[in-house]
Amino acid sequence: MPHLIARSNAMQRIVADVQKIAKSHASVLIVGESGTGKEVIAQAIHEASPRAEKPFIKINCAAVPSLLLESEFFGHERGAFTGATERRRGRFERAHQGTLLLDEVTEIPLELQPKLLRVLQEREFERVGGTETIPVDVRLISTTNRFLQDSLEKGELRQDLYYRLNVIPLFLSPLRERKEDIIPLAESFLHTLSLENNIPLKQLSDTAKEFLLNYPWPGNVRELRNAIERALILHSGDALCPEHFQLEGPRVHFDACSLHEVEKRWILATLAKQAQNRTRAARALGISVRTLRNKLKQY
Ligand SMILES: Nc1ncnc2c1ncn2[C@@H]1O[C@H](COP(=O)(O)OP(=O)(O)OP(=O)(O)O)[C@@H](O)[C@H]1O
Ligand SMILES: [Mg+2]
Repeated sequence: MPHLIARSNAMQRIVADVQKIAKSHASVLIVGESGTGKEVIAQAIHEASPRAEKPFIKINCAAVPSLLLESEFFGHERGAFTGATERRRGRFERAHQGTLLLDEVTEIPLELQPKLLRVLQEREFERVGGTETIPVDVRLISTTNRFLQDSLEKGELRQDLYYRLNVIPLFLSPLRERKEDIIPLAESFLHTLSLENNIPLKQLSDTAKEFLLNYPWPGNVRELRNAIERALILHSGDALCPEHFQLEGPRVHFDACSLHEVEKRWILATLAKQAQNRTRAARALGISVRTLRNKLKQY
């Protein structure tokens, strides 16, 4: 497992929760935007739990065609359907005494949800095309990057299943809301990725740090990792600067802010991207250096 970085208060609380949750058997629902570390946290729960020596099995419910999902969950008997030439064990069976991670749980088709509910309640199931009832002991962790209330209201997720899955909810904040984690994460990725790629270790320049801190990270920790990897591989100098990350734009969050605030954020982000070089920033913004200077004075 990658080393879990948790400098921010928000992540410190998650780590403390993980320790408590790990001792229990309760189902956990991890909610967070894409790339916030849901899978990392699921694995951390498993590894801190008494099940650590048993299997940690994952299934991405969005990646498996819905017709095949039942047999992925529960396995099938030989001859259960065309192409079922062998008996196959499903993920529940393989996760016995361990942990099963259901990724993107809102993608489970409505028809399959009663069967999932049953295995959670009764702790037993049958393989597709089989009659033998198989007892199973798994700790279930589900993840979603959607607001589950929507799936409930739209009738895409059964309420009874929702309550079973969501005994303990864990909310992972987007990276832009826990900026204290950004530099420690970036430095940890620099370290591990330079080892992995056999590249000499590089440093983050001060302007690079400032840029990373101000970038909104719509793809969260995964996007940060990719940006670091790109910069490490493509840039041959010792110190990384903002332009080496090849992140588009200065992407700035403008949710519900005034025109004045939009302008300010855009200008500051452009400056960070241009390594605080006012001449280049002014050129990129299409304004004179003097105008830029005056605006900065205002801020
Ligand atoms: N706190 C952390 N410390 C170290 N690495 C992290 C942390 N959070 C995330 N990562 C890394 O960021 C990447 C994305 O994390 P992960 O796959 O867990 O995200 P996710 O929320 O499951 O994303 P998705 O919704 O796209 O499935 C992985 O490479 C993971 O190792
Ligand atoms: Mg994931």
